[in-house]
Amino acid sequence: MASRSLRLLLLSYLGVLCYHEVTGISIETDNKNVKAEEFKEAILSCKHKFSKETSLRIEWKKIQSRGVSFVYYNGEFTGDLKDRAEMLNTGIHIRNVTRKDSGTYRCEISAKSEHGQHLREATIMLTVLVAPTIPKCEVPSSAMTGTVVELSCKETEGSPPSEYQWYKNGVALLEKTGTGGARAANITYTMNKKSGTLLFNTVTKNDTGEYFCEASNGIGLSQKCSVKRMQVEESSSQKSNYESTSEKDFKHTKSFVI
Ligand SMILES: *[C@@H]1O[C@H](CO)[C@@H](O)[C@H](O)[C@H]1NC(C)=O
Ligand SMILES: *[C@@H]1O[C@H](CO)[C@@H](O)[C@H](O)[C@H]1NC(C)=O
Ligand SMILES: *[C@@H]1O[C@H](CO)[C@@H](O)[C@H](O)[C@H]1NC(C)=O
Repeated sequence: MASRSLRLLLLSYLGVLCYHEVTGISIETDNKNVKAEEFKEAILSCKHKFSKETSLRIEWKKIQSRGVSFVYYNGEFTGDLKDRAEMLNTGIHIRNVTRKDSGTYRCEISAKSEHGQHLREATIMLTVLVAPTIPKCEVPSSAMTGTVVELSCKETEGSPPSEYQWYKNGVALLEKTGTGGARAANITYTMNKKSGTLLFNTVTKNDTGEYFCEASNGIGLSQKCSVKRMQVEESSSQKSNYESTSEKDFKHTKSFVI
């Protein structure tokens, strides 16, 4: 009894396998993680295999936090993709992608045959790479010797995020690396290429100069902020000490005279 029902189970299992092969569809994507530069093109791949007697329906959707929307439905593209996208046998081709096109897309293919309906889907992430914009730089116009001074540089459009390079009097500043030339030279600052800060722990008169920073992320052109001058002056407390001393000396001299 047990072996007969087992055999039946096995037979029906094999039956399902064969049935799947004959009438089912399968889809696959060449690239689940598509990266494309902004204003260039992107291909979202969705390849399908299906048996001849099936009739197919192809739909594409974009999955966003605020819901799922159609990208391709009823044989045509929707929204602003209407004029920018075309259907290929192997997926979709989008021209002039913009950062707004970034997101998760789902290719859904359903096949109908006398055996029923089958749905297969593939999910593809599109990341649109964006060139940096002009960074905002903050450079104090004046600072006192011996104080901590931080210059900052930031832009937020770039994707992936930009890295930053500071320049003083037109010369690229070296990163403190702990080896070689950068250690030998007298580096009085810490440049953080990721955050864009240029930190002087104790700024000296010698740090006076014309500063600017450049943002780049390997996409498109790098961008620079305009040059700003930082003037480092003798600390005012030292100055006022000096002044008050000389004033005292003067009063003293005066009183002495009187
Ligand atoms: C690409 O898209 C941008 C933004 O939508 C638009 O300003 C630009 O003119 C488009 N370029 C082409 C070649 O269609
Ligand atoms: C570094 O600075 C010190 C003191 O300011 C100076 O004596 C030395 O020569 C400098 N070294 C280099 C390599 O510039
Ligand atoms: C001042 O800066 C110049 C280069 O800008 C460097 O050659 C010199 O060694 C610096 N002097 C000190 C005292 O750090």
